[in-house]
Amino acid sequence: MAITLEIFAQQVKQALLSDPGPAGRETVRKLLEQAVIDSELIKQHLGNDQPQRNVLYQDRDLGFAILGHVFHEARRTNPHDHGDSWAIYGQVSGETIMDSWEIVEPASEEQPGKVRLRGSSVLASGSARTYNEGEIHSPRRDGPAKLIRIEGNPSQAAQAKRWIAID
Ligand SMILES: [Fe+2]
Repeated sequence: MAITLEIFAQQVKQALLSDPGPAGRETVRKLLEQAVIDSELIKQHLGNDQPQRNVLYQDRDLGFAILGHVFHEARRTNPHDHGDSWAIYGQVSGETIMDSWEIVEPASEEQPGKVRLRGSSVLASGSARTYNEGEIHSPRRDGPAKLIRIEGNPSQAAQAKRWIAID
């Protein structure tokens, strides 16, 4: 069933109001899996003419943001966390290979931490995955891809630490 961005945002908000913890996020993740296969919603907000990163909605009360991403070519992101925030990645089209990392040496204010690759998995179109506070990950795409991402609180993400990958 077609959904509008406004209704989707309100459903997310309700879920997070009911439970801001893991259970609420799991509800949001499932809602996102519905949204990424909604062809009308995607046509309207994630067309090929959309920018690589587009804030579709930001909630004034709770702080969460819904972002659209349209990547036209292969792209790799460095290992990162989202500080004291969380993020849910929903794949619309193409696929994202998600690397996850374990900490070898913690990061400090002055120095980036060191991380080692723990594993990789594919985020296929139509699926969504949650990354909780402090989980270190790095998405890469070998070709064009579209995603909708929900960030718990982008202002908290400013506290994200820096990480360097080692073998
Ligand atoms: Fe991320």
